[in-house]
Amino acid sequence: METITSISELRKLLDDRRMTEQSIGLVPTMGNLHTGHLKLVKAATQSCSFVTTTIFVNPLQFGADEDITTYPRTLNEDQEKLIVAGCHCLFAPSVEEVYGSNPLTSTVIHVPGISELHCGKSRPGHFAGVATMVSKLFNIVRPDRAFFGLKDYQQYLLIKQLVNDLVLEIEIIGIEIEREPDGLAMSSRNAYLTAEERKIAPFLHACLNDIAGAILNEDRDYRKLEKEGVKKLQEAGFKPEYFSICHAETLQPANSEDSSIVLMVAASLGICRLIDNLRMQTS
Ligand code: PAJ
Repeated sequence: METITSISELRKLLDDRRMTEQSIGLVPTMGNLHTGHLKLVKAATQSCSFVTTTIFVNPLQFGADEDITTYPRTLNEDQEKLIVAGCHCLFAPSVEEVYGSNPLTSTVIHVPGISELHCGKSRPGHFAGVATMVSKLFNIVRPDRAFFGLKDYQQYLLIKQLVNDLVLEIEIIGIEIEREPDGLAMSSRNAYLTAEERKIAPFLHACLNDIAGAILNEDRDYRKLEKEGVKKLQEAGFKPEYFSICHAETLQPANSEDSSIVLMVAASLGICRLIDNLRMQTS
């Protein structure tokens, strides 16, 4: 596996590959790779003949009070894991290579509507930062398929809308959430949990399952169930940010007629902000 840090070098390599290979796959990440990330890479190797994974901690998607300086960076270990997963090329550019001398003067891609909901409310500018970075990667790599985790379900829908609105010829593939044996969704940020918080953290998933159980038992009072979700999380020691039952495509509040819904949750434990979701059919 080659590791490349320059855009022009990567373009040249991919142009060469495009001449001989059938399809280019892209897996964008911020590194500190875990089994969830590697599941995306493996899926990419199964459907694309040349897979590029990117590692870039994108300053544009972090708020002023967020964890960019402490975000875990483990490039050597990540390289080893990518080789085992069968990745062909790692693109790990510097901030300067991607944004020039000042990221804050970059043109920004704003995906309206979805960017303002849920995680967008507490993280203003976050989704514009994601959309800008992913657009750059799409332009640099020009993939046939790009792979995103359903753990970040709002991000996945945002990228689908971006591709649709800008008429990009890229297939967006969503990959199911990878969990720890106790149900906690894998995340690089789980490292911020203390031992005590780590014991409580799986309750986030358990709480989603509880509320999903009530829905399967024909309870369709979603606003009441959202409040119940928040209360359960508070009682378990979380600081809930939102617990929302939404239409699975628009992410607007679900109503009893919607057949595809998603339960979305964000909550903090100490300094660690956790998100999770559960998609379900009601009929
Ligand atoms: P990052 O948090 O590193 O995640 C990279 C990809 O891995 C995302 O598509 C995310 O949804 C997926 N992922 C993370 N945890 C997962 C899990 N437990 N199961 C399945 N997939 C999982 O998301 C980002 O980086 C950035 O916003 C990025 C898209 C790279 C743009 O900067």
